[in-house]
Amino acid sequence: MMVKKQKGKTVLITGPTEGIGYELTKLFAKDHYNLVLVARNKTKLEEMAISLKKQFNIKVLVITEDLSKVNSAKSIFDQVTKSQTEIDILVNNAGVALYGEFGQTDLIKELKLIQLNIVTLTEIVKYFLPNMLQKKSGQIINIASTSAFQPGPKMSVYAASKAYVLSFSEALSEELRHTGVSVTAVCPGPTRTGIINSSGGNNSKLFKGKIMTPKKVAKLTYEAVSKKKTVVITGIKNKILAQSVRFIPRSIVRKLAKKLLDER
Ligand SMILES: NC(=O)c1ccc[n+]([C@@H]2O[C@H](COP(=O)([O-])OP(=O)(O)OC[C@H]3O[C@@H](n4cnc5c(N)ncnc54)[C@H](OP(=O)(O)O)[C@@H]3O)[C@@H](O)[C@H]2O)c1
Repeated sequence: MMVKKQKGKTVLITGPTEGIGYELTKLFAKDHYNLVLVARNKTKLEEMAISLKKQFNIKVLVITEDLSKVNSAKSIFDQVTKSQTEIDILVNNAGVALYGEFGQTDLIKELKLIQLNIVTLTEIVKYFLPNMLQKKSGQIINIASTSAFQPGPKMSVYAASKAYVLSFSEALSEELRHTGVSVTAVCPGPTRTGIINSSGGNNSKLFKGKIMTPKKVAKLTYEAVSKKKTVVITGIKNKILAQSVRFIPRSIVRKLAKKLLDER
């Protein structure tokens, strides 16, 4: 069998056990990247590692870590360093969402969301970037969302966290131009994954009808990432919606967003 040139390169991906991360992981594995898989569910991670190693003859390192915990990024970095693995591509995919009016939602859940979606993501980049800069080569892929483009009434903290991811990634991409390290913010629209139920947003109009599968989102992400684009919005409908926000007054945008996020 012809093995592609990616042999020997390593991808660290957070949240590979479900949804978009799971599909993306399979695409990297198929192209013979070695993997570092990070999530909480040890059993699922180990099962994935066994199956991917066998199927694609790649190296897989499993790191069981709760990314909503303080210092989890440092712990990941230490474990990767200890295993003498160099990361060529970093995919910050793991994320959580929370649906509900801010006056009613649980503060602890919101603080964990901020820790995972913002703080840990930032720290992971901080730890792994220096080595990429030294090698003058690397790719950082941060999964944001189309909710990064406008406020999200009933998902206020989630949308704000994704606005952070988009802004941070774009700024970093510009800073790192000509260094050999690229940064991509991926902005999927609503996608049929477990996050819909876990966020409590399953009755929202946003998730009704025909929405994208994680497989499709991963395929579009993988294609765009190989072109090292800075911002990737998955799907033409999502692209039009995200861009249209720039031409509509903010007072109208937030009302429309609320309608979309309201319950059916
Ligand atoms: N689905 C959508 O509609 C949508 C739209 C736009 C953007 N996104 C973004 O896409 C990314 C992936 O979302 P998804 O829909 O694929 O989610 P998902 O199906 O719920 O999967 C989430 C993944 O993240 C891991 N994870 C969750 N909490 C974690 C924690 N505290 N520590 C470590 N790992 C954790 C989970 O594994 P464990 O449970 O084993 O930890 C799982 O592998 C997220 O950043 C999300 O915000 C999703």
